[in-house]
Amino acid sequence: MKAEINISNATIRDIEAIIKIVTNTLGNQYLTHAQINQYLENINFYCHKAIINNEIVGFSLSRICRINDLKHNLLGNTDYLDDDEKLKEPILFRETTAIKKEFQRKGIGTKLIQYGIDIAKNKAHTIFRVAWQQKDITPIGKIIEKEGAKILKKIPNYWYEDSLKRKYQCQVCGAPPCKCSAIIYIDYL
Ligand SMILES: CC(C)(COP(=O)(O)OP(=O)(O)OC[C@H]1O[C@@H](n2cnc3c(N)ncnc32)[C@H](O)[C@@H]1OP(=O)(O)O)[C@@H](O)C(=O)NCCC(=O)NCCS
Ligand SMILES: [Zn+2]
Repeated sequence: MKAEINISNATIRDIEAIIKIVTNTLGNQYLTHAQINQYLENINFYCHKAIINNEIVGFSLSRICRINDLKHNLLGNTDYLDDDEKLKEPILFRETTAIKKEFQRKGIGTKLIQYGIDIAKNKAHTIFRVAWQQKDITPIGKIIEKEGAKILKKIPNYWYEDSLKRKYQCQVCGAPPCKCSAIIYIDYL
């Protein structure tokens, strides 16, 4: 029998389990306790968890925000947003999604992302995402392209400076700097 996947809001008791998933899938120290906590405490911030048999197997972070807040939270130069006349606020900023290694490619990421979009879509006019490209593969790309997301831009070395400053270890690059690229996806709703 296939195990049931349950998706719901994460709580403060889930933070340690989420940090373990961050370490094993994204990179050591990539997200701190305090960073995750802000998604639990603020209205318009979301931290969703996927549970199978009482175990947290994945999570997803997103928020509803204004353009200035989006710019403030993106890394590097954000001038490309000023030229985009179709970009309308509020924005659903889809930030990070990760699934435990042994549970990947079973459809959990797709469900988690769909859940997050269904909950917040009617509050936004644009969906904005930063997708991690690992070497030449963007694991999240196929899932979100199926939903109609379009590539706005590829940004090489997106996390380079940030990884040096905050000293996190990318799962692919190891010790900083991270040399991975980001693919920016956008959906005008
Ligand atoms: C990306 C991720 C969230 C997807 O979640 P998931 O539960 O594995 O995804 P699904 O099972 O719903 O997969 C749907 C599709 O995503 C793609 N995909 C998922 N993982 C992939 C990988 N490692 N390489 C290439 N494609 C991948 C595949 O096209 C897959 O469809 P398929 O299995 O029929 O080929 C998950 O694999 C993960 O946590 N990866 C590591 C961290 C990461 O890259 N996070 C995204 C940051 S933007
Ligand atoms: Zn990297």
